[in-house]
Amino acid sequence: MNTFGLQARFLVPLLMTLVVTAYLALPVLDRLTLRWFSRDLNLRGELVTDSLTDSIIDGLDENNLSRLSLAFERVARDERLVAVGLCSPSDDLILHTKAFPRSIGCREAREIAGQPYPQIEIAGGSVHVGFHNISSVEGVAARLILLHDLSFIERRSLDTRHYLVTLLALLGVVVALITIVVAQFMWRGWIASARALLDNGGLADVKTLAASEFAPLAADLRARLRDLEDEFRRSLGPELEWNPARLRSLLHTQLRGDEVLVVSNREPYIHDTQEGGVMVRQPASGLVTAVEPVMRACSGTWIAHGSGSADRLVVDAQSRVRVPPGSEEYTLRRIWLTPEEEQGYYYGFANEGLWPLCHVAHVRPTFREADWERYREINQRFADAVVAEARSEDPVVLVQDYHFALLPAMIRAQLPKATILTFWHIPWPNPESFGICPWRREILQGMLGSTILGFHTRFHCKNFIETVDRYLEARIEHEHSIISYQDDETLIESYPISIEWPSEKTAASWPSIAECRQSVCRRLGLPETVRLAIGVDRFDYTKGILERLNAVERLLEKHPEWCGRFVFVQVAAPSRSTLEEYRNFQDRIEQLTARINARFGRSDYLPIILLARHHDHHAVTELYRAAEICLVTSLHDGMNLVCKEFVAARDDERGVLILSRFAGAAREMTEALIVNPYHVEESADALHKALLMPLPEQRERMASLRMTVREFNVYRWAGRMLADAGRSRLRRRIEARVERHRHT
Ligand code: F6P
Repeated sequence: MNTFGLQARFLVPLLMTLVVTAYLALPVLDRLTLRWFSRDLNLRGELVTDSLTDSIIDGLDENNLSRLSLAFERVARDERLVAVGLCSPSDDLILHTKAFPRSIGCREAREIAGQPYPQIEIAGGSVHVGFHNISSVEGVAARLILLHDLSFIERRSLDTRHYLVTLLALLGVVVALITIVVAQFMWRGWIASARALLDNGGLADVKTLAASEFAPLAADLRARLRDLEDEFRRSLGPELEWNPARLRSLLHTQLRGDEVLVVSNREPYIHDTQEGGVMVRQPASGLVTAVEPVMRACSGTWIAHGSGSADRLVVDAQSRVRVPPGSEEYTLRRIWLTPEEEQGYYYGFANEGLWPLCHVAHVRPTFREADWERYREINQRFADAVVAEARSEDPVVLVQDYHFALLPAMIRAQLPKATILTFWHIPWPNPESFGICPWRREILQGMLGSTILGFHTRFHCKNFIETVDRYLEARIEHEHSIISYQDDETLIESYPISIEWPSEKTAASWPSIAECRQSVCRRLGLPETVRLAIGVDRFDYTKGILERLNAVERLLEKHPEWCGRFVFVQVAAPSRSTLEEYRNFQDRIEQLTARINARFGRSDYLPIILLARHHDHHAVTELYRAAEICLVTSLHDGMNLVCKEFVAARDDERGVLILSRFAGAAREMTEALIVNPYHVEESADALHKALLMPLPEQRERMASLRMTVREFNVYRWAGRMLADAGRSRLRRRIEARVERHRHT
C-alpha cells in the first residue's frame, strides 16, 4: 500500500469523528445557550420588576391604573420586551400592554415560568415568560408578567452553530494537514530504516535502527531474513563440498601434482614403548588434527620432531616411516633432538618465549640468549631436512607454527624457487606487545621468507602487517595484503583452520547418543539422569580452565537447584609438563577442583570430575556425544578446534556450545553462547541458560553450527592455501617465461 492509502486509512475515520462530534454537540450547545439566556432574562426581569415596584404599589393604592398603563407602555418600548401584564394576588389580569397576547392568562404565565425552559410560541414568534412578585409591606401586592422576545437568542444560537461548524471544519483541515506531513516523514524514516536493514543484512547500523521507531520491527525482520537466507542456503546444500578428492584434484590441476612437504614440531604419530611392546598414538594437538587429513589426501612427506620413546625403533635408515599405521598414505620423516636442544628450542624459546608473547594471557614471556641459539640451530636443521627431502627445486613446503619462525627464510636461501606456505597457528599480538622480543627483527625477516603467510583471522593478519611496518623497512601494499621485503614478496592472508568433517561411514560407526551416555555415566559412576557439561583441553594457561571452574562454582552458588544434578567433566591432557609454569597451572586446577568439590560435593556426588590424562579421538567423541554442554573458555586462542569437534560429533543436532569471544572460532560460530571467560558471572549465566535451553532452540543453533563447520572444513582451509600457492606458482612461471623471451 502506498503512503496516501495509509493516510486515507487514518484520515477518513478522523473526519467522520469530527462530523459525528458536531452532530452530537450542536443540540447540547443549543440547550446550553438557551439556559444561559433564560437565566439572563430572569435577572433582567427582576431588574425591571424592581424598577416598577414602587410605581405599581402607588398606582394600586391610588387606584390610578391609567398612569400605570403609561409606565408599562414606556417599559415595553424596549425592543426585547414584547409585552407586560399585571395580575392581582388572586391571579386576575388587571392591566397589560397592547401587544400582550390574549391567549395568556395569569395562571398559564405562572405555570410556564416555573418550567426549566419558560417559553411559549405566540403569533410573533417565541417569547420567554417571566412571572415576578410585587411585594409591599403587607405581602404580595400584585404579580408582574414580562414577555421577552426570544428571536434574538435564536439568531445568536444560529451564529454560534455557524462558528462551531466552521471551527470544526478548520480543525479537521489542520489535523489532516499535520497528519499528512507527519505521515510523510514517518514513512520516509521507515523506508530508510527498512532499506538500511535490507542493505546490511540486518547486521550494520544497529545503533541507528535501535534508536528509530523501526526498532520493534527490526529484530523480527532480521530474524525473518535470516530464516529465508538459511532456507535458501540449506536448499542449495554445501556449494561444491571440500573433501579429500577435491583437494587431490586441486593438487593435480593447480599444482600439477607437485611435491608437498609439511614441517611441524609435533609429529602426527608417536611411537612409545609400553608394556614391553610398541604402542602408537596421536598427540593432543589442534595442528595435527587439522594437517593430518590434508596429508592423507596429498601424500608427500611430513617432517617432524621424533619425540616418542620408540620412534627410533620403527624408522628406516633415513629416519622415515610410512603412516598412518596400517594404511601408509604418506611418509613421516623424523628429526632427532637431544634433551638440551629440545629444552632450548621447544620448551625455552618457543614455549616460554613466543607462546606467552603471542597469546598475551598474563604470563610473562622469558627470553634467554641460549634458547634463541638453540631455536636458530634447530630451525636450520629442519631447513636442511626439507632440502634433503625435496625431490625438485620448487617443492610446495607447508611450514607449521611458531616453532619455525626462521625456517621460511632458511629454506628460501637454499631452495629459492620453493613455494613456502607458513601457517601461524596461534594469535599474532599488536606491535607494542611483540616489540618486547629481543629478536623481533630476525623473527619477522625469517617469516617473510614465506610465499604466503597465513593466520586464522584478518585481525591477526592486520597485527602482523602493522608489526612489520613498525620494525622493518618493508614496502606494504595494504590493498592486496602483500609485503615486499628485500627481493621477496609475501602474501598475508587469513585461512581459518578447521577439522575434517566426519564422513557418513565414520558417523555411522559411532555408538548412538544413548549408548555414549550410558557408557560415560557407567565409567564415571554417574546416574544417567545427570546434566553433563564437558571441557576438553591440554593443561594450558591460555585455555581458561580456572575461569571455567570458577563459573561452575558460581552456577552452583546462584542456582543451588543444580547441586546433585549437574556435573562438569574436564578432560585435560598433560602438556609441556617440564615447564614450571605448566606444572603450577596443573596444581592450581587440581586444588581449585578439590575446593569446589569439597564445598558442593556429598558422599555420592562431586560437581567436577577432572580427567587429567590424554584421551584418544574415540574417547573424546564419546564424551562429546554424551554431554549436553561443551565449554570452550580460552583466554586467547588462534582458532580452537574443540568447539568444531563437538559440533561435528552432534549428529542428533542437540547440545549447547559455550564459546569464548577470544577464540578465533567465535568469529565463525556465532550461534554458540558467546562469553567473556574473564566475566565469571556471564559464564555461569550461560551455563544456566544452556541447561534450560529448549530443544527446538538447541536444534536451530546446532544445525546452523554444523552447516558452517561442514562447509568450512579443513580441506577448504588447505585448498584455499594451496590454490593461492598454485596461482603464485603460475605467475612466477609466466614471469620466468617472459624473462627468457626478453633474453632470446
Ligand atoms: O596451535 C598451537 C599448537 O601447536 C596446537 O597445534 C596444539 O594444540 C598445541 O600447540 C600443541 O602443543 P604441543 O605441540 O607443544 O604439545
